[in-house]
Amino acid sequence: MSILINGQAADSISVRDRGFQYGDGLFETMAVIEGTCPFWERHMQRLQKGCQRLQLPFPDIALLQAEAQTLIQHETRAVLKLILSRGEGGRGYRYPEAAQPTRIVMRHPWPDYPQRNGQAGVQVRFCNTTLARQPRLAGLKHLNRLEQVLARNEWQDAEIAEGLMLDEQGNVIEGTMSNMFMVKNKRLYTADLSNCGVAGIMRGYILERACNAGMATHIGDITKKQLGEADEIFLSNSLIGLWPVNRLEGQIFTVGEISRRLQALINRDYPLIHV
Ligand SMILES: Cc1ncc(COP(=O)(O)O)c(C=O)c1O
Repeated sequence: MSILINGQAADSISVRDRGFQYGDGLFETMAVIEGTCPFWERHMQRLQKGCQRLQLPFPDIALLQAEAQTLIQHETRAVLKLILSRGEGGRGYRYPEAAQPTRIVMRHPWPDYPQRNGQAGVQVRFCNTTLARQPRLAGLKHLNRLEQVLARNEWQDAEIAEGLMLDEQGNVIEGTMSNMFMVKNKRLYTADLSNCGVAGIMRGYILERACNAGMATHIGDITKKQLGEADEIFLSNSLIGLWPVNRLEGQIFTVGEISRRLQALINRDYPLIHV
């Protein structure tokens, strides 16, 4: 059994589910390490924030945790995905009066990303698909991911690990499945996500660790030109941890000292992620 839908082993939902009909819901993708999700609380906080913004009832957290535990307790390394939709509804966008959210907890195998991605770094490109501005949804991990679907299918070259996405003003926001950081003169920069992008759990963790380690951090607009002049660039998400970028559109970047320091910090709290 690797999927629980509202607590029952199952693998299909109703065609009337608003998650399927409208993308009306949220999800979380979590790393499972030695039978637990190291960042469970952080994921729950983002989910809770998302529920508030979408006016979606937040599920019973103890129940959610018990269901998650059933699926992951014997796993050394796995991925736990949680999907929360507004549940079934009739035709039309208006919320049903007494929505019964659909709660899906599913376990996946750990992805077989090449080990060298974390060590030697990855090659990255820019995507043509832009991210639209929508402050009411910005930061959330909601179920509408069509921009990422279009962007990820712009390239087939297996050597390119990730594509960077810009907003309509030309600011580099994030990757199709990751957040982006750059280092310039020992200062750490990442994009402002007030208008678009997903506020990644690993991004938040890296910013916190960097601050605690006394590094200067800055959240703001990053243009393509600024990125081209960076000393280091790296990507983050809950499953990859931190991947340095060694090449962006043909330009070579070195895997620098700050990327290495942050990787070491992640490995301390989050062992096995770079194995
Ligand atoms: C578009 C996008 N941005 C950022 C992230 C990073 O989020 P997290 O660190 O929570 O995994 C993801 C993760 O899948 C993503 O899909």
